[in-house]
Amino acid sequence: MTSTAAPAPVPLSGPRFQTEPAELYREIRRDHGSVAPVLLDGDVPAWLVLGYRELHQVTGDPELFSRDSELWNQWERIPADWPLLPMIGRKQPSILYTIGERHRQRAAMISGALGAVDPAELRAHAERFADELIDTFCDKGTSDLIADYATLLPVRVLARLYGFADEDGPGLVTALNDMIDGRERALAGQQHLLRSMQRLLVTKHTAPGPDVASRMLADPSGFTDEEIVQDLMVMMAAGHQPTADWIGNSLRLMLTDSRFAASLFGGRHSVAEAMNEVLWEDTPTQNVAGRWAARDTRLGDRQIKAGDLLLLGLAAANSDPQVRTDGASFTGGNNAFFSFGHGEHRCPFPAQEIAEVIARTGIEVVLDRVPDIDLAVPASAVTSRPSPWLRGLAELPVRFTPTPALGDTPR
Ligand code: HEM
Repeated sequence: MTSTAAPAPVPLSGPRFQTEPAELYREIRRDHGSVAPVLLDGDVPAWLVLGYRELHQVTGDPELFSRDSELWNQWERIPADWPLLPMIGRKQPSILYTIGERHRQRAAMISGALGAVDPAELRAHAERFADELIDTFCDKGTSDLIADYATLLPVRVLARLYGFADEDGPGLVTALNDMIDGRERALAGQQHLLRSMQRLLVTKHTAPGPDVASRMLADPSGFTDEEIVQDLMVMMAAGHQPTADWIGNSLRLMLTDSRFAASLFGGRHSVAEAMNEVLWEDTPTQNVAGRWAARDTRLGDRQIKAGDLLLLGLAAANSDPQVRTDGASFTGGNNAFFSFGHGEHRCPFPAQEIAEVIARTGIEVVLDRVPDIDLAVPASAVTSRPSPWLRGLAELPVRFTPTPALGDTPR
């Protein structure tokens, strides 16, 4: 009797997520099919859903594949200092882990508050903050567009939309980036953000304004201040980093791919094309945690047990050969990618629109202001951060002919 040993589960870590994720997902799919067994830190088992169809099934059935992390059948082996706890949390009171009717109300509150943002005002804020940031380096002739620009822009715009005064902006930028860094200042950063959100709500209770926080407070569904603070934290963190990475990954594509070379000199159309291509081929949101099976079920050809954790393999599903049969590149407006998720827990549509305006404006303004921009290092030296979850550049060194700052001159 012969038996073929099943291939070993794939550790969801290691340098290949940083250096060649697309190749890695192809190999995982070849060896394991559309639902692969993976191991998280500490050899904690989970499933990675790589198939487009299977991902549709998981995200489209929030009752069978729940957002309720209490269902997890591995909690007893998770140590208190498990590094993924901030992401795969237990009893977290934000929208992320709310389910059922209350989730629908909460998503509607957030969508309503974000949807009322005036597009012209949003664009004006994004341009103004982009100009301010470019003023800090445009006369130098060199910059790291990640540290000097992309990681500073979305948070400034979002803080303004949510209701913060401009002078709170720089403190929030530092706190949020410290928190995302996950190093020694992370906790202090999180505390600063939390206190800032709490203070914001106190102010908006007495003096509501035309801002996101005031609209959330006025929502009739009766969410408490604590719940709104938690959601504003999610909207800040979940909004800033992927938008910053979208800017960085798109700029890298435009600066390294000859198809975009001509358009660097003012071609607006191809900014949108580059951004769309990034969402298909190099999405900031690579893998998302997650969903928990409410009962035993089958997915792909796998037997899933009640309480198993499923990770959403968004990047892998985007390149599933079942939907990419012709190998064609999906530029030019096809939005069927999974980069914003799908189903009830997907990124709210108004959030997607706001992210798109911030990213597009950010890219357009930098190309307008420093038109002869070029990479300052070989393309192969531009590396991504080492994370299987969010894909973004570690740095993007560029050079250009120095130009004077605009200062207070209106554009
Ligand atoms: C203005 C910027 C943004 C804001 C305010 C925002 C806000 C949010 C919120 C509140 C959720 C939770 C929805 C829920 O649990 O029901 C969410 C989910 C999500 N967002 Fe965004 N987001 C932004 C930008 C982005 C960008 C640029 C991407 C990717 C390129 C992205 C990808 C996702 C994904 C994949 C999910 C779904 C996670 C899941 O299904 O579990 N978001 N976003």
